[in-house]
Amino acid sequence: MQLSDKKATLSFSDGTPSVEFPIYQGTVGPDVIDIRKLYGETNMFTYDPGFMATASCESAITYIDGEKGQLLYRGYPIEQLALNCDFLDVCYLILNGELPNGDQKKEFDSLVTHHTMVHEQMQYFLRGFRRDAHPMAVLTGLVGAMSAFYHDSTDINDPHHRHVSAIRLIAKMPTLVAMAYKYSKGEPFIYPRNDLSYTGNFLRMMFATPCEDYEVNEVVERALDRIFILHADHEQNASTSTVRLCGSSGTNPFAAIAAGVGCLWGPAHGGANEACLTMLEEIQANGGLDYVGEFMEKVKDKSSGVRLMGFGHRVYKNYDPRAKLMQETCKEVLSALGLENDPLFKLAMELERIALEDEYFVERKLYPNVDFYSGIVQRAIGIPTSLFTAIFALARTVGWIAQWSEMLSDPNYKIGRPRQLYTGEVERDVPTGR
Ligand code: ACO
Repeated sequence: MQLSDKKATLSFSDGTPSVEFPIYQGTVGPDVIDIRKLYGETNMFTYDPGFMATASCESAITYIDGEKGQLLYRGYPIEQLALNCDFLDVCYLILNGELPNGDQKKEFDSLVTHHTMVHEQMQYFLRGFRRDAHPMAVLTGLVGAMSAFYHDSTDINDPHHRHVSAIRLIAKMPTLVAMAYKYSKGEPFIYPRNDLSYTGNFLRMMFATPCEDYEVNEVVERALDRIFILHADHEQNASTSTVRLCGSSGTNPFAAIAAGVGCLWGPAHGGANEACLTMLEEIQANGGLDYVGEFMEKVKDKSSGVRLMGFGHRVYKNYDPRAKLMQETCKEVLSALGLENDPLFKLAMELERIALEDEYFVERKLYPNVDFYSGIVQRAIGIPTSLFTAIFALARTVGWIAQWSEMLSDPNYKIGRPRQLYTGEVERDVPTGR
């Protein structure tokens, strides 16, 4: 970051002397006021619940311009990456800062491919869960448990260890998600195969059985790969900030990523695609297109507590660029699978049409986010709703681990320790004779 010529001055209405703060500039996007000395100089904290105006770190991985609806990974627009790259290209880019050349790509693909198996003991751990456990509960446990299986790569101060952990996590997440799915179905686990692509291998581990050959459908493979690309990173969102905060204590990478999985689970974050599909199914069950108008009235009535899931975003105040790509993919997949008349897709298109014209949504700048269409695509592929957020976690793992590693190599890195505005009781004595 670069020091700006400008400075910020904080003045007080009670005559307390004003304080000056340096301003830093990034390459693009808002500048930041460096308030690290604020408490020392004024005995005051800043108050910003929800981090509405707080840059928690310096990062060179992902840039979002929410007003424009722009998303860049290492400077490259998401639209170009989605059209010209596969998910492992994007993983390489996010981890290393540049797209791989031919040899680097071959080596990286092979490295990831040769780390997809998990320790055989892992399945006995998995078998301890109830078969009807939510996949995110299972995944939180499995990812956390990886630290018990792979403790030869947990020296967080060694860049090589960090790299090995990153490869292990990226490679093994599909295996773990597929195992969680197979376990919930009571079907045998399917071991990875090295002659398939990352996404093709995942599809096979999910949907093959030992009884017959499984052929990967290329349209489905490309669609799922695109879902992975679109979810790979999203700067300092709630789960990534969780991974950074958890990792800032010096804990091992698997524990930090498990914390991210737990955060992602919530319906305001990664759980939104599951919630969005549940919402579409409910609308369908209540009369489908005929019920859309009534449903939208409920959404606009704050006392109903109903939100239009898959709409709105803390950062995007314009169309989420990922939602546009997802809508295209949705059309492709439905047509390739002969599901063009899918009623939920029609419902989604109608909800979107109404919302984009309705004053409630227009004035609040609420647009479809990536989750609005990704659930329909996943459902068409055959992925059960309860697994949607686990698929998101699989894809976001590369972003989490890259952000965690970036934090550890940052000379300004410190344990994350926010402060508070205390409004509880002042000191008092415990009554005697209780
Ligand atoms: N439906 C109806 N109203 C909404 C919605 C929605 N989906 N989202 C926001 N609003 C309204 C709020 O009620 C609020 O109205 P008000 O100003 O009259 O009080 C206004 O828009 C601003 O919303 P906030 O909740 O303050 O915005 P915030 O940035 O905190 O929330 C969030 C963002 C959590 C994503 C929100 O838009 C939401 O709940 N959306 C639905 C869930 C969802 O799709 N999440 C996925 C996010 S993308 C991801 O994680 C990959």
